[in-house]
Amino acid sequence: MLEDRVYPPHPDFVARANVSGMEAYQALYRRSIETPEEFWGELAEKELAWFEKWSHVFEWHPPFVKWFVGGKINASYNCLDRHLATHRADKVAFYWEGEPGDERRITYRELHAMVSRFANVLKARGFTSADRAIIYMPMIPELPVAMLACARLGIMHSVVFGGFSAEALKTRIQDLDARLVITADGGWRRAREVRLKDAADEALKDCPGVREVIVCRRTGSSVNMQPGRDSWWHELEEGVSADCPALPLDAEHPLFALYTSGTTGKPKGILHTTGGYLLGATMTMKWVFDLKDEDVYWCAADIGWVTGHSYIVYGPLSAGATSVLYEGAPDTPAWDRWWRIVSKYRVNILYTSPTAIRALIRQGEEWPNRHDLSSLRLLGSVGEPINPAAWEWYYRVIGKERCPIVDTWWQTETGSILIAPMPGATPLKPGSATFPLPGVVPEVVDFTGRPVEAGKEGYLVIRRPWPSMMRTIWGDPKRYEEQYWSRVPGSYFTGDAARRDVDGYFWILGRVDDVMNVSGHRLSTMEVESALVKHPAVAEAAVVGRPDEITGQAVCAFVTLKQGTWDHDHLADELREFVAREIGKFARPAEIRFAEALPKTRSGKIMRRLLREIVTTHTVTGDVTTLEDFTVVTRLAAEED
Ligand code: PRX
Repeated sequence: MLEDRVYPPHPDFVARANVSGMEAYQALYRRSIETPEEFWGELAEKELAWFEKWSHVFEWHPPFVKWFVGGKINASYNCLDRHLATHRADKVAFYWEGEPGDERRITYRELHAMVSRFANVLKARGFTSADRAIIYMPMIPELPVAMLACARLGIMHSVVFGGFSAEALKTRIQDLDARLVITADGGWRRAREVRLKDAADEALKDCPGVREVIVCRRTGSSVNMQPGRDSWWHELEEGVSADCPALPLDAEHPLFALYTSGTTGKPKGILHTTGGYLLGATMTMKWVFDLKDEDVYWCAADIGWVTGHSYIVYGPLSAGATSVLYEGAPDTPAWDRWWRIVSKYRVNILYTSPTAIRALIRQGEEWPNRHDLSSLRLLGSVGEPINPAAWEWYYRVIGKERCPIVDTWWQTETGSILIAPMPGATPLKPGSATFPLPGVVPEVVDFTGRPVEAGKEGYLVIRRPWPSMMRTIWGDPKRYEEQYWSRVPGSYFTGDAARRDVDGYFWILGRVDDVMNVSGHRLSTMEVESALVKHPAVAEAAVVGRPDEITGQAVCAFVTLKQGTWDHDHLADELREFVAREIGKFARPAEIRFAEALPKTRSGKIMRRLLREIVTTHTVTGDVTTLEDFTVVTRLAAEED
């Protein structure tokens, strides 16, 4: 029934849209597929500034692709310098608001100066395009400044989300073999200080390769500064010039690696390069968010995830947008913080996650209803499937039945949005990400790679390379090839299940691998298991995602213990904290169940499918003939009652 409900775009929206009407979308799409070189070549030329033109639009040697081969470009230049010669020079790039209520308003000219000055600091310290930097910061303007300063000099960066623990930070520094760490004393979250420098110090004990740590002052609390290694950002900047030309870099020069969970315990560094990534981020700002020069745009994600990279930093700045940047939590000091921000800055476009929407729904309509939300004209959703009930609430209570909702499907690996409505063209169906964007050829296939019929569930693959796709896994091209390109040879395997309905709409159904999606954050079951078995009491652990009303999925861990007498209540809490220390608080299991044994196949593999069934349906119906000891399952299921 829900699939039958279709919301066509409002004529007023269509009249002003960047892409107006389905015919315009279809023509654009058709052209991108029939003549991709021409299509992307023209866009790259028109939408980005190049130091030197490319010789080939793309070179595809599956599974490795290069875009704009031989072209010279700089992402920082495109996000800043090129706007200075236009009316955008004194346009606000960021309205920043700290959680305690402090504010900053930064124009493109000012941001350019901040980035250039900090780039000069990095240059003076001897960092070059051969270096890699880890950035571990709160949501303050200096975070995009650090990223753009690195990009200006070709220093590849890897931002580590501030919610990650010292342990998680350490493995990322080591994997990247970074010489430079940029951090802050701390940041504010729910009125408490997140002490980032302390965590960085802890991580750095095992990172002898790090030569320098630059610390930005945010909270003003006292931190340890190691002489010879640590320096204050503001001290290094004293007397430094704000003139630092952006370096012409190869279009395929690495821009950043962002670590994300795979199906093993080891996170993978997803590598993105410069030209193609920037074009993807820029075009989707215009196509999907229908960005206009006068818009105030707010992506409420954290820059530490890919959403923040593409839709707080590179996409909006390259497109010359005015953005809101907010440091803290949506419930601080009260549950109307977001709506205060929307009305204060007259936000026109709001982009957030279904988890956030569901958390807001739970607090009641009175919070948004207290504020003037009439500036909003477009809403976006990302990170997980949006359930129709949350969609309807977002549409009615926040958008006042006036704002289209763009449900955007993409991944860390894809760099930018691949499947989403064009809001002035696509009739919406709540819960569907609708149609592919130009150049994107998705298909729903069976395990042999053959397309399945309309309405049938299958694996979502992408048949052709696109400009912003990942180039490899940092330091592990073999894993890149195996994980993404060998399941369905020649196609990019997304790891998601999907269905395409008779009207051609894509419905994304969730992961098909051992990856959970908790609050829109990707987390591998193995990662949590590896953390748990490090605890001295734990013999074995099996982790599955169980449905959760707010967070989409919640982490549920089945644990067997080593010999000894353990106080289960106490131990459950201890294990939860243990996982928080190993990975980060967001990975903390919602539930720990102690079991005598775990269900395994005869070859010793834990049957997670059964555990998933136990936590989802509270019964076991699937095929259990390969089980080593069937009684284990009946016992686990019986414990439900
Ligand atoms: O399962 C899909 C889900 O999030 C996964 C990608 O996670 P990550 O790389 O952390 O990036 C999240 C932000 C882009 C996908 O494989 N996902 C993301 N967006 C949607 C979604 N599932 C359904 N609908 C979406 N709009």
